[in-house]
Amino acid sequence: MGSQAERNRRLVLLPCPYQGHINPMLQLGTILHSFGFSITVVHTIYNSPDPKNHPHFSFVPISDGLSDHDIAYGQLVDNIMAVNTNCKESFQEYLEKVIVNEEKEVISCVISDELMFFAEAVANDLKLPSIILRTTSAATSIARSTLIKLAEQGRVHSKGSVSHDIVPELHPLRSKDLPFSLSTNFGKYAEVIAKAYGKRTSSAIIWNTMKSLEESTLEQIQGQSQIAIFPIGPLHLIAPANFSSSLIKEDRSCISWLDKQPHKSVIYVSSLGSIAALSEEELAEIAWGLANSKQPFLWVIRPGSVRGSDWIEPLPKGFQDSVGDRGCIVRWAPQREVLAHPAVGGFWSHCGWNSTLESIAEGVPLISKPCFGDQRVNARYVSYVWRVGLELEELERGEIERAVRKLILDDEGKEMRERIKELKENFGICISKGGSSYNSLNELVNFIHQL
Ligand code: UDX
Repeated sequence: MGSQAERNRRLVLLPCPYQGHINPMLQLGTILHSFGFSITVVHTIYNSPDPKNHPHFSFVPISDGLSDHDIAYGQLVDNIMAVNTNCKESFQEYLEKVIVNEEKEVISCVISDELMFFAEAVANDLKLPSIILRTTSAATSIARSTLIKLAEQGRVHSKGSVSHDIVPELHPLRSKDLPFSLSTNFGKYAEVIAKAYGKRTSSAIIWNTMKSLEESTLEQIQGQSQIAIFPIGPLHLIAPANFSSSLIKEDRSCISWLDKQPHKSVIYVSSLGSIAALSEEELAEIAWGLANSKQPFLWVIRPGSVRGSDWIEPLPKGFQDSVGDRGCIVRWAPQREVLAHPAVGGFWSHCGWNSTLESIAEGVPLISKPCFGDQRVNARYVSYVWRVGLELEELERGEIERAVRKLILDDEGKEMRERIKELKENFGICISKGGSSYNSLNELVNFIHQL
């Protein structure tokens, strides 16, 4: 903990307005606050975090200029570009106001999400140091940069690929694992990637990953980087667990349902994360796959995630009667608590980076069915490199039924559970005194003090 005198050293945090980016940024803020820094979170109006959950932070909303239409129908890449254009002026105005008041407090630095690249330019203009937070894996960063090069060389189709051929530069990724976005406009996606992974002018990079999981990839990146890199993950394990940064209300009734299920019997299904969506047909395949597996399941169906419906209205007729109490469906779950519950034996995930880390941290093996972007890279690492999960090829009821039964009941699932236990233990070592993330975090704090 830092001294009271250090509290007037302020860090300005700027998350990208999506759940998978807000969570690690607020975790980082909580960690750095425990080292004595004051924390201000500057955030968009869209998907704004709830200040009540973080009484020790200051929150400053800035206008993002996104219309209801952009939010409902806009493509992710377009909205990210729009936020970068629209927020610049108000962010600069806010920082200028704080700088004028410098005798009260000093901004030590601006820490911005890798996708909020405008922040770096604003900080440079005002001669403030800045640091980038990377919220995806190190392997993703290399895969994204390489994907753009492959596209320039005409070696990949801009619409993506289903080929299982290995991409030699990215072994063991196959063409189908390349981190294509949901956007139909590859040019715009390439622009975002170039800004996020091209030459940056920040002083350092904080990374929500750790040596135990990505040592050689991190070494490769560190070897090529001109600036300091601090891998200090998993942030959610280092940050105190007593706060939630969920944008959707968590339904805690699923915990009492889990309490009634046998040990390691439940498959927890959160197969879309906070962004992806599916069709009614896909919903029906998942529903019947789960029903036919005969295993208990806890299924998160995010409101609006089934295209054309508010919530679970399109579930197939007869499905809920056929599963009865064996299934529990919620809009949003307290995911970390669910994964830590002794009844949970497996996690069907889209393999967002946070979900992947949270599953490993609790030693829960995975079924992966990535939807887009980095999820494809993570899913390949889960099934092929770390060998702690099964990858679904198709959203087809028979394949789903077999995968659930294999993961929860078969020896193959047990072996994955053993392997993921080892990764979990390594996480513990990384964040304990003398561990790589522990050391890196302390180096980061010293680094910020010297900026
Ligand atoms: C997005 C991208 O989709 C993902 O690929 C990228 O790695 C990060 O940004 P998202 O889809 O939201 O993230 O997935 P993920 O990274 O897994 O983050 C979701 C977060 O929401 C996790 O921290 C998870 O614990 C939380 N969550 C999810 C809940 O608290 N409750 C739920 O019911 C589902």
